[in-house]
Amino acid sequence: METTRISGIETPVSRIGLGTWAIGGWMWGGTDDDASIETIRKALDSGINLIDTAPVYGFGHSEEVVGRALEGRRNQAVIATKVALEWPDGKPRRNASARRIRTEIEDSLRRLRTDHIDLYQVHWPDDNITAEETAGELEKLRLEGKILSIGVSNYDTGQMDAFRRTAPLASVQSPYNLFERAIDADVLPYARDAGLTVLAYGALCRGLLSGRMRADRSFSGDDLRLSDPKFQPPRYAQYLNAAAALQGFAAERFDKSLLALAIRWILDQGPTIALWGARRPDQLVGVDAAFGWQLTPQDREAIDILLDEHIKDPAGPEFMAPPPSRPASAPGVST
Ligand SMILES: NC(=O)c1ccc[n+]([C@@H]2O[C@H](COP(=O)([O-])OP(=O)(O)OC[C@H]3O[C@@H](n4cnc5c(N)ncnc54)[C@H](OP(=O)(O)O)[C@@H]3O)[C@@H](O)[C@H]2O)c1
Repeated sequence: METTRISGIETPVSRIGLGTWAIGGWMWGGTDDDASIETIRKALDSGINLIDTAPVYGFGHSEEVVGRALEGRRNQAVIATKVALEWPDGKPRRNASARRIRTEIEDSLRRLRTDHIDLYQVHWPDDNITAEETAGELEKLRLEGKILSIGVSNYDTGQMDAFRRTAPLASVQSPYNLFERAIDADVLPYARDAGLTVLAYGALCRGLLSGRMRADRSFSGDDLRLSDPKFQPPRYAQYLNAAAALQGFAAERFDKSLLALAIRWILDQGPTIALWGARRPDQLVGVDAAFGWQLTPQDREAIDILLDEHIKDPAGPEFMAPPPSRPASAPGVST
C-alpha cells in the first residue's frame, strides 16, 4: 500500500481511501449492513486505513455502520467525515454555520463511537455563511482536540483562499477520475502549491471505471445513476466504449485491469488519494494491483487520445450538488 501524509495527522494515510456513501444506502438503491461491515474490515486488513464518510450518507447510517465496523479497531483507522449539510425535510441543503457545526460534531462523534475525528471536511461551500465563521468554528474544534485536521470538499480556489485566512487547511475533496477532470485546471495545481492533499472522489466514476459495468445493467430505487447524465443513452454507450478501450489499453500495455489503471492514473496526477466506493468485500479484490508501477507521460497521452476518440458528448458530476441553504434572513431557517 502506498501511503501519504495529511497535515495534522501523525499516522501515514493509505493512498486509497474507502468511500462509504453507498454503504449509507441513500441514493445507491439500498444497502446491506453485514456486507458493509465486512467491507470496512476487509479494507483495514488490506492496508486501507482511510475511511471517508459523511453524516448525510444515509442520514447518519453510513457513520453508524463505520462506527460499528471500527469497534475495537479504531486506532487502525483514519476517519474522515464531513459537516455542513442539513436535511430538515429529508432533502439535504447546505448549512456551514457555527451553530450547525457544533451540533453535527457531537452527532458524528456519537455515531462513529469515537472521541475524535481525524479529518473533518466541510462537505459543500455555503455562500450564505462567511468563511470566517465556518473556518473559525472548525479551528476551535481542532484546538479542543475533537478533530485533528481540517479539510474542505467541493470548494474552488477562491473559496479555499478565503478559508485559509482563518484556519489551516490540510485537504480538499473533489470529483476526480479519468472521466471527470475539471480540477486539473485549478484545484489540483492550487493544492500542489499550498501543500494540500486532494481526496479524489468518484474514483471509479460511480462504477463506470470498474471494468464490470454493462449496457444492460439496471439500477433500482433511488440509485443516483438513474439520473446521472453519463448513464443515459446515447451518452452511456460512449462512456462504456471508452471504458472498454481503456480496459484493452491497461491489459495490453501493463497486464492490468481497468480498475487498477483508473486508480493508478489518479495517484500519478499529484498529491492525491483515490476514494474507492466499494460496498461488498469482493469489490476490494485486486486493490494491490494499483501499486508498484507508474504511468509515463506517453501513457497519459495515449489515454487522452482514447477518451477523445470515444467521448463526443461529455457530462460532468454537477448533477450531485445539493442546493444552497436559504439566506439566514429567510423565514424558517435557523443558523
Ligand atoms: N465530497 C463529496 O461531495 C462526495 C461526492 C461523491 C463521493 N464522495 C466520496 O467518494 C467515495 C467514492 O465515490 P463514489 O462512491 O461516489 O463512487 P465510485 O467509487 O466511483 O463508485 C462506487 C461504485 O462503484 C462500484 N464498484 C466499486 N468497486 C467495484 C468493483 N471492484 N467492481 C465493480 N464495481 C465496483 C460499486 O457500484 P455497485 O455496487 O452498484 O456495482 C460502487 O457503489 C464515496 O463513497 C464518498 O466517500 C464524496
